[in-house]
This record gives sequence, C-alpha cells and structure tokens, in this order.
Amino acid sequence: MVQLAYENEDVALVGRFVERGYRTIPSLWVNGQALTPTQCAQARPNQTLLNFLRSIGLTGTKLGCGEGGCGACTVVISKRTNNKKLVHQSVNACLFPILAADGMHITTVEGIGSWKAGAQSSDQDNLHPIQRAMVDMHGSQCGFCTPGIIMAIYGLFASNTEDRLNIKHLEEHLDGNLCRCTGYRPIWDAARSLCDDQEEVGASGPCGVKCRECPERESCEMDCNVEEKKQEGGCRGGLCGGVVHSCTESKVMEFKQVVDETYGEWWKRPDESFPNELTSAQNEPLLVVDTSVHSGGTWFQPHTLEELLDLFREFAPQEGGLKLVVGNTEVGIETKFKHAVFPRLVRPMESVHTLYEVVETDTHFYVGACSSLSSLQSFCHKRMADKKSMKVAAPIHDMLRWFASTQIRNVACLGGNLATASPISDMNPMLAAMGATIVLASRPRSDGGIDRRTIPVKDFFLGYRTVDKKEIEVIERVEIPLAGKFEYIAPFKQARRREDDISIVTSGMKMKLRPEGSSWIIDDISIAFGGMAPKTVMASKTMEALAGKTFEDSSFTEARAVMQNEFRMPEDVPGGQAEYRLTLACSFLHKFYLHCVNELKKEVESSDVGSLPPVLVIDNEEESAVAGFLSAQKPSIGGTQSFPEPKVATGLEESHFAGDNDKVPKVSEAAKESTKMDSVGRPVTHASGPLHCTGEASYADDIPAPENLLHGSLILASKCHALLESIDITPALKIPGVFGVFTHQDIEKLGGDNRMGPILLDDVTFLPIGEKVDFVGQVLGIVVGLSQEIAEKGARAVNVQYSEEFEGNPIVSIEDAIKAESFWTDFRHEMKRGGDVNKILSQTEVDGKELVVVEGSIRSGGQEHFCEYACLFGDCTLLISLIPVAFIAPNTSDLEPNSTLAIPSESGTNLTIYASTQAPTKTQDFCARVTNTPAARVVVRMKRMGGGFGGKETRSVFSSVAAAVAAKISNRPVRLTLNRDTDMSITGGRHAFVTYYKAGAIVEDDGSVKLHALDVKLFNNGGAKFDLTGPVMDRALFHVDNCYNWPNFHSVGTPCKTSQPPHTAFRGFGGPQGMVITEHIMDHLAIKCDISGDKLRRDNMYTMQDCTPFGMRFGDGFTGKWNVPTIFDELFTKLDVPGRRAAAAEFNAKNKWKKRGVALTPTKFGIAFTAKYMNQGGALVHLYTDGTVLISHGGTEMGQGLHTKVCQVAAQAFGIPLDDVYVNDSSTDKVANTIPSAASMSTDLYGMATLDACKQILKRIQPIRDSLPPNAKLCEVAKKAFFERVDLSAHGFFAVDNNRCGYDWAKERPEGFPIDQPENSWKGHPFNYFTQGVAFAEVEIDVLTGDHKTIHADVVVDVGSSINPAIDIGQIEGAFIQGMGWSTIEEVVYSDDDHTWIRPRAKVFTTGPGTYKIPAFNDVPEKFNVSLMQNADNPFAVHSSKAVGEPPFFLGCSVFFAIKDAVTSARNKKGEYFEFRMPATSERIRMACNDEIASQCIAKESSGSFQPKGSF
Ligand SMILES: Cc1cc2nc3c(=O)[nH]c(=O)nc-3n(C[C@H](O)[C@H](O)[C@H](O)COP(=O)(O)OP(=O)(O)OC[C@H]3O[C@@H](n4cnc5c(N)ncnc54)[C@H](O)[C@@H]3O)c2cc1C
Ligand code: FES
Ligand code: FES
Repeated sequence: MVQLAYENEDVALVGRFVERGYRTIPSLWVNGQALTPTQCAQARPNQTLLNFLRSIGLTGTKLGCGEGGCGACTVVISKRTNNKKLVHQSVNACLFPILAADGMHITTVEGIGSWKAGAQSSDQDNLHPIQRAMVDMHGSQCGFCTPGIIMAIYGLFASNTEDRLNIKHLEEHLDGNLCRCTGYRPIWDAARSLCDDQEEVGASGPCGVKCRECPERESCEMDCNVEEKKQEGGCRGGLCGGVVHSCTESKVMEFKQVVDETYGEWWKRPDESFPNELTSAQNEPLLVVDTSVHSGGTWFQPHTLEELLDLFREFAPQEGGLKLVVGNTEVGIETKFKHAVFPRLVRPMESVHTLYEVVETDTHFYVGACSSLSSLQSFCHKRMADKKSMKVAAPIHDMLRWFASTQIRNVACLGGNLATASPISDMNPMLAAMGATIVLASRPRSDGGIDRRTIPVKDFFLGYRTVDKKEIEVIERVEIPLAGKFEYIAPFKQARRREDDISIVTSGMKMKLRPEGSSWIIDDISIAFGGMAPKTVMASKTMEALAGKTFEDSSFTEARAVMQNEFRMPEDVPGGQAEYRLTLACSFLHKFYLHCVNELKKEVESSDVGSLPPVLVIDNEEESAVAGFLSAQKPSIGGTQSFPEPKVATGLEESHFAGDNDKVPKVSEAAKESTKMDSVGRPVTHASGPLHCTGEASYADDIPAPENLLHGSLILASKCHALLESIDITPALKIPGVFGVFTHQDIEKLGGDNRMGPILLDDVTFLPIGEKVDFVGQVLGIVVGLSQEIAEKGARAVNVQYSEEFEGNPIVSIEDAIKAESFWTDFRHEMKRGGDVNKILSQTEVDGKELVVVEGSIRSGGQEHFCEYACLFGDCTLLISLIPVAFIAPNTSDLEPNSTLAIPSESGTNLTIYASTQAPTKTQDFCARVTNTPAARVVVRMKRMGGGFGGKETRSVFSSVAAAVAAKISNRPVRLTLNRDTDMSITGGRHAFVTYYKAGAIVEDDGSVKLHALDVKLFNNGGAKFDLTGPVMDRALFHVDNCYNWPNFHSVGTPCKTSQPPHTAFRGFGGPQGMVITEHIMDHLAIKCDISGDKLRRDNMYTMQDCTPFGMRFGDGFTGKWNVPTIFDELFTKLDVPGRRAAAAEFNAKNKWKKRGVALTPTKFGIAFTAKYMNQGGALVHLYTDGTVLISHGGTEMGQGLHTKVCQVAAQAFGIPLDDVYVNDSSTDKVANTIPSAASMSTDLYGMATLDACKQILKRIQPIRDSLPPNAKLCEVAKKAFFERVDLSAHGFFAVDNNRCGYDWAKERPEGFPIDQPENSWKGHPFNYFTQGVAFAEVEIDVLTGDHKTIHADVVVDVGSSINPAIDIGQIEGAFIQGMGWSTIEEVVYSDDDHTWIRPRAKVFTTGPGTYKIPAFNDVPEKFNVSLMQNADNPFAVHSSKAVGEPPFFLGCSVFFAIKDAVTSARNKKGEYFEFRMPATSERIRMACNDEIASQCIAKESSGSFQPKGSF
C-alpha cells in the first residue's frame, strides 16, 4: 500500500505562527494572473520555481542542467520594493525556490508572446519583438535553449524600462545562457538589433559621419570606410555581384526600423504587465508546512531581524536545524545533487533592511549580507566614478563581472558566498585581502537585544567549508574599508572559461606604499588566494617577504621564490593542476606588481604632495602583463554572412529520375506562378522557429502527463572492475510513493532479451547479478514512483553489494589499454598505399634529395555532447579545491536530457514510445526485443530533440528501453527523463585518440617541400562497450590524409577497450580526430623544414585526378569538384594572410606577455555512411484535397533544419507555398526500418526520398491536371483526383548509388583489377562526395594566465547549391564553435593514473558546468565571417546541395592551431617543435609558454617538454 502523506511535525507550529501574523499560503502570480489558492497551496518548501511551473503546465521553461549553469530555465521575477520601486530580474528557475517568489510576479516565455494564440488574425502572429528578432535572425536551431535566452534578454531590457537597453550593457550582462547549436552569432545579432544604440556600432570616420550613413560612401577612401566595406564584403548588405551579403551592422539597423515601426515602446511592457494588485512589497511573514508525499519541509519567511534571530535560537539547535537560504544557489545544489536534507528553511524578507542594504560611510562600504551580488555590482559601478571610493569599488565590480552569471548574481548574496566558505570562492579572497570584517548577529535570549560580533574575513575560514560562526548566528553585514593614498587593490581570477565559471585560482591583493627617501617602500601588503588550499588562505610567507621591502622588481622576484615554496603542492593534490595553480599564483603576483607600478605612476602624476620618489619605469613589452580580461570591456561579437544568389539548382534528381522526366511534370507551372517564389534555395527561417521562441515547441519531456503516470530513475553502479553481488530493493520499496523496482530478473520474467548494442550485442539493459561491472554508472535497474524526486530517492535507497574479484586496476586511458593490449582486434583496420613506409622513412635521401623525417605522438581529447552537466557542488566548487574527493559524484545531462515517455495500451500488449532519439527504429527494435513485444506492436514517435550531435544515436536507446520495461511490467505510463549524473554515466562522448606518427617530406631543389610518406598508428578510447567505436575509428582512418597527397601511406587504427562508459557518435564521427593528426604533422614538418606552414599545406594539396589512399579520385564523375585549393587561395589573398602573420609577429615582438597567432586550416569531409546498408531512406507523402502536403520521413529533427529543407524540396516539387507543406513527427508506424539521422546524410536521403514520393503523386494526378484549365490550383487538382479515386499518398525511397558508398576493408585486390584504377579502389567507394572548406583564425593569448580570445575567424565552405543558405550558415557557425570548443576549452577528465585524486578509479570527473566548459556567448570570435562558396554544385545530391552538419566542425580547430602558433611565438625557440596536446586549455597554454615563471613552478620534469595532465 503506497503511503501518500508525509508526517511533518511542524504542523503543530502553524497555530502559534498564525497568531503572530504569519500567512500559511503564499501569494503567487504568473504571467499576469494570480494563481488560485489551491495552486498556491501546492507550492512546497524545497521545490524549485521550475519544478512548480512545469507542474502547472508551463513547459516553455526548460530544465537543461538543474544547477544554474545553462540558463535554459530563465524566467523573470518582478516585485515592488519597500520604496515602491518596480524591479524586474532574470533568475534561474531551476534553483530559485518557488516560495521565494511569494508576492512577486513571475513572467515565463509563454507570458510574453505566442505564435498564434492571441493574434489579431490567422495570418498574423503574436510574437514579442525579442521572439520576432530571434525567429527572423535564425537565432534558434534545436530551440531548447531559446526560451531561456529570450527571457534573459527580456530580463535585461526589463531591468531598466526607463531607458531602452544599450548594446554595451547587453554585451556585459548576457552571460548566463549556453547554446550548443547556433554558435551564438545570430543570437547576438538578434539581441543587438533590439537595443537603442545600434548606430554606435560600426565605424565613424574622422569626418564624424557614420560610414554607412555617409552619402559619399561609395567613393570615400578613408581607412574607416574601406575597412567597413571590406567587412561587409564590399557591400552594404543585400545582393551584390551575384552574392547575397548580410552583416551584423546592416541587419541590426534594418531590424530596429521594423521593431520601432511595429512595436512602439515595447521594452516598457514589463512595467505595464505588472499586476496592479501587487501595489506594495509583500511584508507579511509566511510559514509553509509541507505534508505532501514529497520530502516535506517547513518554510519560514520572517519580516524582522529579531524574528529571524528568534527562529535561529529556537530551531537551530533542534534536529535538522534551520537553514538560512537567500539565492539558493548553494543550498539548491546541495539539496539536489548532494541530496542534503534541510527540513526547515528560512528566508528573511526584504523588510529586514540591514540584511539587504548596501551603503557607503566615510570609511567603509557596508554590504548587507543578503543583498544580491547584482545590487553590490551596480552600487560599485556607480561608486567607481568617485575618486575616494573607486579604489575599492573597481576591484569588487571587476570581480563580480566574472562571478557566475547575471541570473545567479541577481539572487545570490555575499553572506552566502562567505558562509559556504568554498575554497575557490571569488569574493572571499578579495574581502580577506581588503581587510573586510564580518558582523555576526544573534539573539541568545528572547527577552534580550541583538548581540553583534565582528570578525575579520581573513580569520573567518577555519578549514574546508567550516567557518567561525555559531549555529544561532546570522551574518548581518560585511564592512569593507576604503583605501587610502598610495594604496592599491587588484582582483585576479583564472577559470577554464572566462564567463560564468568558477576559478581555478582566484586572488585579491592589496598593497600600501610609502615614500621613503628616494624609494617607495612596501608599507603593508595583503595577498589572499582561493584555489591554493582547502580554504581561502593568506599568502603569509610571501607577504612577510615583501613587507618593508623596496617596491621594485627584485623584491617581487624574491617573493615569487618564497611563494613557490609556500604553495608547492604534491602531484596528486585533489583537483590536480598543481604546477599550473602555482604558476598562476606567481603570475598573478607579477601582474600585481606591474599593476601597482602603473597605478602609482598615475597617482604620483596627479598628486599634490611635494616631492615624491621617482616611480619605476617598466619596459614597454612588460606592459602587456597588466591588461587582462577582468577589467577589459567585453567584445562586440559580429560578422558577415554571404552566400551565392539563391537558385533552384538541379542535382542528383536529374540523373536519378532520368527516364521519368519526360513523363513526370516537374511542377505545376500554374501553381508555381501563384507562389511567386521558388522554395528551394531560399534562406527561409527554421520551420519551428516561432514555436521554439515562444516555448510552444514540444519536446519529449513536455508531453502532458498521461493519467497514472509514473516517473523513473535508473539505479547505477557506483564502481567498476567488481562483481555485482546483490541488489536489495526493499529499502526503496519502503519509501512512500515508490511504485516498483525492476532489474534484470524482471526482463527474464518478461521473456525479453537483455542484450543491447548497435553493432555487437555486447551490452545489457540491466546488469545481471553475478556479472562484472564494466564501468561506473552501468545501469542495474529502474525505480518508478509517483514523482521524479521520489523515484530518485528510491534509486538512491537501493542497496547494491559488489565483490572485488579482479586483480589490478581498471584500464582507463589509452596508454593503459596499449599496455594491457585491451583492444577490439577484429576491428583493427589498416590502409596502405605506395611503398613500404617503414623502409622509406628510414632513409635520409630520395633520388638525391633530402628526406626530412619527423616522429612523435599526438593526443586529442574526448568531448561531451552538450555539457550542461550539473556539478554536485554549486560552485563546482570544489572542483579544484582540495576536498575529500569521495564526496564528488557525477551529474550530467544534455541540454535536453535523454527523455522517454513509454505508454502501454491494450493490456500492455502494445507500447507507444515518445523518445528523444536520433534513431526511432533502433529504439523500436530494442524496446521490442527487451520487453518481448513484436516490433509491429511498438511505435516510436519523435517530434523534435533539443540537440543530438550523435549523443542520441545509440546511447538514448538504453533509457528508452528501461522506461519500456517498467511501463510494460507496471502497465502504466512511465516517464524517464535522465538526471544529470545518470545521463553522463550512460551516454559517453566523443572518442579520445592517441596517435603515433612518422612522416617524411622531400626538400626539392627550389626549396619547396613535397610530402613523401606517412606512417600513423591510431588508438581510440572506446570505453567498456563497442557501441560505434569501430566505425568511428574507420572514419578517422578515412580522414587522416585531410587535403594532402601522401604518395606512400600507411595507417592502422586500433579501437581500445577500457573502463570508461561506452563512447559513441559525435559530430564528425572520428573525422576531426583523423584530420587533426595531419595538421599537427604539417606543423611539425614545416618547422623541421623551416618553411611556412601555409606554403607546405598549399603545395601538397590534392589536385584534380589525384587519389586518396582509399582509392577515391578527385574530379568530375568521381568525387565532383575539388575546391579546397581555390578556397584556400581566395582566403589567403583576400585576408592577406602573410600580412596578418607579419602584423602578429610585430605585435609579439612588442608584447612579452601577450602573443598572437594565426592559422589557415582546410578540410574535406566524406559524405556517406561508411556502412553501406545505411545509405537509404524513406518518406511518406500525403497530398490533401485542400492542396496541403504532409510529409513523414525517416529522419529526425534535432535543430539541423532537416524538416525545413525537406518541406522546401516538396513545396518546390508541387509548386506550392512552403507554408502548405508540413512535417509532423518521425514515427516508426509511418516510415519503417529507418536508419539513425546521422553522418550529415539526412537531407541527401530524405530530400530525395520525398522527391520520389512527390513525383509519384504528381505522375498520378497529371491526367487530372491535364483535364483542368491550365491555371487550376493544386487543391482543385487534388480534389478532382480524390473523386476520381486516385491515390494521393505515396511512399518514396532513395538509396545512394551502389557504386558510390561502402568500403570492404578486407577485400584483396581482385585478379585482373585494371592497372589504371587507383590503389584500394577495389575495396569500394566509401564516400559519395566531399564537403570542403577552409577557415582562418587569429587569436591572442595571455602568457601569464593561459587565457585566450579569438579575434577573428573567417570561414568559407563549399556546400554545393544550398537548399537553404540560412540554415547552412547556421550549421557552419554552430559546428565551428563546437569544434573550437572541443579543441580548446572542453576537457574530459577521468580518474586514471594522472588523476588519482578522483575516486573511484575510472569515474568521470568532468560532470558539471563547473568542470566541463562549452563555449559561451563571450567565446565567439569577435569578428566571425562565414561564406558559402560561389559556383559550387554537386551532381550527387538533391538539388545539387551538399551535406553540411558535420564537415565544418573540424574548421573550429583552426583556433587551436592559431593558439599553437601564438604559444610557439611565446616559446621563441626557432626550429623547436613541441607536442601541444588538444584541447588547448588555459592550463596547457600557460604551461606550454615555458617562460621563466612557469619553469620555476614545474617540479621534476624538464620544463620544455612538460605536459599538464589531460585525460585521454
Ligand atoms: C551556476 C553557479 C555559478 C557560480 N559561480 C560562482 C563564481 O563564479 N564565484 C563564486 O565565488 N561562487 C560562485 N557560485 C557559488 C554561489 O553562487 C555563491 O556562493 C553565492 O554567493 C551564494 O549565495 P546564495 O545567496 O545563493 O546562497 P544560498 O545558497 O542561499 O546559501 C548558501 C549558504 O550560505 C548561508 N547563508 C546565506 N546567507 C547567510 C547569512 N546572512 N548568514 C549566515 N549564513 C548565510 C546559507 O545558510 C547556506 O549555508 C556559483 C554558483 C552557481 C550555482
Ligand atoms: S540553469 Fe537552470 S536548467 Fe540550466
Ligand atoms: S538552439 Fe541553442 S541549444 Fe539548440
């Protein structure tokens, strides 16, 4: 019997508190409406705003990470303050407690606009201007992040409704959202187009006139105008010379006009829509006691300080205590991820003024401990204008700019930062160094007054997360002393990513100087660090070494030596990065010294004190150390996009349907006339754009709960390399609300087949007892309950026992696997052409010419599909901190986590599965097998995914099957939306690679260098199960050559089996890992041969008629046009690459601590599934009698715009408007036996299959059309055809030509194979054609910290004749940024030999946004230009288009190679090659620079070859 009530003894308190004036039901307002008392009464303590909103059906607000790291859940809360001011703020609904919204107005994305609801007429919409801008500027792809981004922008405009937002403010504060699809540029454009001051963007010349508004623009030759025109491709936007140009500037100007004309003063709407009823701040206290089946809890909201302190006196000593909560950005994380239970929560109301005010006195800033960090930031911003306050206000402000995100700062408080005592808190070291003090308040006796105690911040931290605070005390305020004459303060922070990231090392430094004779003496110095110890620490010994010393370089050099001893950490220190952290600390000190020199100089120059000692002069080149991102203005991101004038090109269809052509009409000319426009070739917006932007787009987890719904949570193995001994489910079953627990035995009872796996059936649904646990996080079973919270609680309660029967350690890294020879040897493939490379590479000469040989190894890391992974610790706190690592558990999920709703029907004999998957048929197949249900009785439906990128190609199936098992057994619908940790533990990611190479090139008489022979041995880390590891390795082998001709070639790919979770498909599918190898080798050879890398690359590119090592010939009829050399030359000339290299060299010579680097990187990407059978696709097309068309095809929509393109193809075929064509969902009962949407092939397959179906229908209705007047519309034709009993539905099918796909690795050269045919071509033709492109990147690195920024990226891609240039440009930008992320900041770390501080071994550590970083808004290249190549066509795909999803991914690595170029410059050792591993994290950049500070901090290894410990 399920127990439904939770007994909360605090019910007994209600009467007492009601008597004191407490309310017991909160007042909640959402989207202009007051919620009913019944709804309000459902709000629970410990419930987030997001959970509450979704429970009342507002599913536009998404759960991306659940820990404040992605912004998908952003909503705006509005309230009246006590002085009647209306305040609107964006917040993360996944953390904000619903009860904290008491008396406030909540606006969700549904509340600001709708696509159709509320529109004036059927052909209009009701979009908010922000939504309109995002739709029109292609700001959404999968759309999962979109509502959150729109609400973040809405919140920024709402934060100041008097003045419309300006661009700088926008750029400063749009920092709390992540998007994995778009690459952000279009979102920046959309957001900027709404601002007040777009005209400020763009150059204005010395003449004072804005260039683009100047009537003389075409003839003016001033630099500003020339540069501007260059940026716009010589064009102001629009069609110019057969190319359509648009640029950020022209777009935002145009859109502003539209917005101004259409929407009036729309930014004032938040004020206007604020409910009149909420006339004043809610000041009546509140008590809510939860008695529901959930975890219960009690919420107090007192309205005076005395009440608050009384509550602490009464409840803090009791069992369960009393937890103060303000922003809940720490407490929320502890509750959700550490499963901390806080039975009583208290949140003081804002009427407790002393806790919320920020004021300045003559001597101090007084900061109320609960005032939001945003209010402190804005207070400091204002005080920065004042000379006296500036010295304190500026560093606080600068640090807060990079503290979390706007959404977090809007709610989080300083008291929370202090009380949490995170060792990597950003504010605590600052406050400690500044000499701030904390005022603690308590009321030990009910009849007494308030006791106050003051303690210096530096003494507040007693140990790891322990502070000097009694349980009845509350931090009332922080007092920060102002700084005096010759006193300087500076903040320092280095994180993995600049924006919204917790520090690796953070510091505050303060110094007071005094003049003495002819010198400046260090009168006082205070240095505090975070990230260097288990708590915030003062650098006491270093301070001692500096105090009283002369203010000069040598004092600091000596102090650095002291610091190196003071903070040297053991190699296995928790958090790792021992050498980097020490280097950072010392580098910060050097920066601080130079900062103070500059500040002193300024102060002395403006001082009225008589004679002062001279100020030190620092070398010009040292100056570059001073500037850092902390105080620098955030960049304006913009760029140009250009594509050839749209046209309806004819491609494969011409030859494919040849023979039919004379019989089948291409389109109805009359109907086409009525549409006025062709559909194919147009840059139309994503078909679901308006739905994405209004939150009305439905994802798997948004499907309304069916009756009797149960929620699931997986039981996961907590260790590996052990036997699963027993699973005791009884503790879970005892939890109220748990309905059932299902394991392997239940599958047996069903008669199902437990085995899983896309190629080898080497995996299982639920691990049987007695079998070996292969990886941490392996699925052992599923718990289902009345809510997700309950199911999760149940899963945690299941008692799992393991027995340690295996010797040795789990194999984790590729090196471990090589040592243990843990390989899938059956799938080791080899490719050979030309002579014996071993022999060749042992020579020193070839035909009398020098053979230069290089040898080495290359590593590229893994990658998580999305990365909105929740970290256990809010500040992720602990990441690098020196914490008991046993507490760390992984928490992860995709932006849209894997989600399934399984609904049984007909007595459990049928199953309908709504899954977020790229592979409906695979999902159907395994759900059927495992539940022992005929496939014909299992229907899998998929509307859209919130991103896929390969992560939902095979690994999504596991969770769908688990839900299906539970649904079938319980005969009730089951929803399983994976929690962060679960998702990460099952889904794996991109394969890491290690490659050993030897390569040789011949130096020709003219000095040019010709590639001669390559020998590479590739190993990839497949994890514990095969999944797609073999095919990923195959694609890597097919891409090792990249664009270069190696006459002698030998490669071997060995898939490695380890104890990591099974790795799987990820955009590029091994291709990028292959291409990276060659690009490294090209750099190595260029250095060894002392020639330019650009020249080496260009001289050795394939030319027409050359062949790849796998036997594909470049040229018409074979692979089609070979365009890479042309694009390379065009970019080389257009961008003046030599000039830019020279400018970078000049910059580098002038700046010791900042270096620039440049790269020009080409790519060719093979299009086709390498498994031949997969190159097929079907489509079902229905023509209805109103002339509209419904398509179902085998592909799935994950944001890539597949449905939009397929609709364009069908609309073109029927000659009807695009709006008349619709794709609903992907469903296995409409199109069966589909292959996963992958390999970038979907438009090629389903475009053609749809065309096939359209042609069949057109052929059938042709006689009817002939019988009607020539101008008859399609609806008239269709109606008549229906009455004449003509079938208006057709199933279309397409398979890639038999000779243009498939490759048999094992096939030996057949007898008599023609001698003139390329070597290896007898094995097959693995690709239909190549998508090609080149990228230029220019970066700047900060040598002292390892920070980098991308100044410029220019990308040109040959995508044939684009069906939709806007979608293709979106794919290119998104792929570029994802590739840039993979190769720079995204680093996956496992517990292995290099990371023994993570436990247990083999567990993945990077499971949260705090540890795993994808690029954010601020990481986009400042200038980001993308062009589609002109005059490109492709006879091998529909409408002459080319696949685009994956190919541009590798181009993002141009940023990596540019960073490498910059690091090379910093090392400044001519002729030296160094192995620079991928990704180029700040740690790798910093340590590779190998300057004197870094080398002093490296303990044992020789500093030149030191490799920070990445994980591969
Ligand atoms: C996504 C994300 C990013 C973050 N980024 C950063 C970052 O860049 N830098 C950084 O330093 N931190 C960061 N944090 C950590 C966190 O935001 C801060 O520690 C914040 O200051 C906590 O404030 P809060 O109001 O949310 O605390 P809450 O979660 O409400 O409370 C935290 C703790 O403080 C106690 N507390 C709060 N106020 C008082 C008081 N007045 N008296 C006594 N105890 C009190 C609470 O009882 C609780 O134990 C991040 C967190 C998240 C979720
Ligand atoms: S920030 Fe709330 S879901 Fe990611
Ligand atoms: S559109 Fe942003 S995550 Fe997909």
